[in-house]
Amino acid sequence: MKKLITLLVLCSIIASFLLTSCSATTTSTSAKIIIATDATWKPFEYIDDQTKEIVGFDIDIMKAIAAKEGLNVKFTNVAWDPLLAGMAQGTYDVAISSITITEDRKKQMLFSDSYFAAGQIVVVRADNKDITGKDTLKGMVGVQLGTTGDIEVQKIKAATSKPYDDIGLAFQDLLNGQVNAVVCDNPVAVLYVGQNAGKLKLAGSAFTDESYGIAVAKGKTELLKQINAGLKAIKAEGVIEKASATWLK
Ligand code: ARG
Repeated sequence: MKKLITLLVLCSIIASFLLTSCSATTTSTSAKIIIATDATWKPFEYIDDQTKEIVGFDIDIMKAIAAKEGLNVKFTNVAWDPLLAGMAQGTYDVAISSITITEDRKKQMLFSDSYFAAGQIVVVRADNKDITGKDTLKGMVGVQLGTTGDIEVQKIKAATSKPYDDIGLAFQDLLNGQVNAVVCDNPVAVLYVGQNAGKLKLAGSAFTDESYGIAVAKGKTELLKQINAGLKAIKAEGVIEKASATWLK
């Protein structure tokens, strides 16, 4: 009898050990990957008024990649400036936020292959006859702080870059006459012009060639490989075209 009890106790100890070690491995392989995004950049990443969820082109792309690679992702809304700083410091694993791949940023974070091509474009009030594009920009120009638009405007002598945390506020100031123009990524500009028909217009065409990449914290090379593999697979399946049709009208 004593022997039987000892055996049972031993068995249950072994069983519980196996169970816990098993569940420990499952949690570690499906650990949550934190994806930072600055959800102020319609139609790529923004908060849906009704559902309060983060939605947009980038979100669909990232979710499709995560599904392909079995990544357990969680989106977190972070303002643009702290997003770049956080990626440089490894606060977040990944960021998808219409991030243009630049040499400077490559020193601070890893980038996936490109998933979208964009360029900077000038937006003015519909009655503006002086500013016809980048070369005629002058005075105060609204930009999002620390974006490639901000960097481009700073190169123009006649113009002064006025930085905003949210490009929506720059467009509001353009409508109010506080700034002469706004410079931002062309699909974002097209959206605001469309929403303010008769009040705003595009001035010229896109004047930079930029490629968006998914940023991955330095050192996370395995994660970068998975993201690139997932991106390649969803590209082949036409997911990017589908997201363009949904979000870029
Ligand atoms: N493509 C530009 C850049 O990388 C602007 C991106 C802004 N993105 C955002 N979610 N606010 O500088």
